Amino acid sequence: MSDARVLSAQPLEDELQTELSLRPKRLKEYIGQHKVKANLEISIIAARNRKETLDHVLLFGPPGLGKTTLANIIANEMECALTTTSGPALEKPGDLVGILTNLEGAALFIDEIHRLPAPVEEVLYAAMEDRRIDLVIGQGPSARTVAHPLDPFTLIGATTRAGLLTSPLRARFGIVHRLDFYDFESLAIIVRRSADILGIPISSDAADEIARRSRGTPRIANRLLRRVRDYAEVKHEGKVDTKIAQEALKMLDVDEYGLDDIDRKLLAAIIERFHGGPAGVNALASSIGEDRGTIEDLYEPYLIQIGFLQRTPRGRVASKLAYDHLGYQMSGVRSQNPLF
Ligand code: ADE
Repeated sequence: MSDARVLSAQPLEDELQTELSLRPKRLKEYIGQHKVKANLEISIIAARNRKETLDHVLLFGPPGLGKTTLANIIANEMECALTTTSGPALEKPGDLVGILTNLEGAALFIDEIHRLPAPVEEVLYAAMEDRRIDLVIGQGPSARTVAHPLDPFTLIGATTRAGLLTSPLRARFGIVHRLDFYDFESLAIIVRRSADILGIPISSDAADEIARRSRGTPRIANRLLRRVRDYAEVKHEGKVDTKIAQEALKMLDVDEYGLDDIDRKLLAAIIERFHGGPAGVNALASSIGEDRGTIEDLYEPYLIQIGFLQRTPRGRVASKLAYDHLGYQMSGVRSQNPLF
């Protein structure tokens, strides 16, 4: 049976604890994202030397690439605590005011910052720019606003959808970095590092095999590693070699490109029902019974990255690579020996 969740870039409920143990704590342990890392290192060292707080940081990019990990690393490198919250958790301005007035030197991490309600976002503007919050005292005609000063602090915002941030909010971040899918070499090092931490005996080739099928995403690499370990322990003696890794990944329905059932359904729908595209995302979502946001956030970015899908103004188009991989001819007819 296929397990669509195995390739989800969102953390699964039962794996948060293991994820925590695998997360690097310092910049020097952090693998991949070379440019982001090099730039952050300079910003951090410069701020530390000047004995200032770091400028506000915005991290954006697909889920599972390490935005939360980097936020924690930034706090560790700046030697301050990190207070963590998220856009949807801050329902009212008062929620944010409470957090901002209790930071006591901590940096503030707001995940999914594109989901902040507008009135909360407005409180953030003055807090970020002028280190001030405007408190309303009293009610009705006698109500007045009192400016309350805040200590210097660093806001770290993370979002999968930078396009959904309002421009006043985006403009208030001095440091903005986009995280991209990891290259194969970095993912392979991450798999070996995680295997080492978890005590999983794995051959170098098997680690490469897992890295190749992890959609450029460390969270997925670490999950596949644990599933492959389960398989090796139950079906074999626990040691993971390439053959065992391949068997386990086949059983999980993860193909050589790291695609799962839903990726393949999505591409097949474009090819069969929309003659290769362009297909509008809403029509596509309803034709495969998936949520539009899930398609846009979780599935499309990687399919675009590997060149299987193009986003055009008129809709999504499947590429020749996608036709070949799924065993279709460009006419939309399935060739004789379809892979799936
Ligand atoms: N585990 C998950 N992401 C990682 C990264 N970027 N570097 C090292 N270990 C990781």
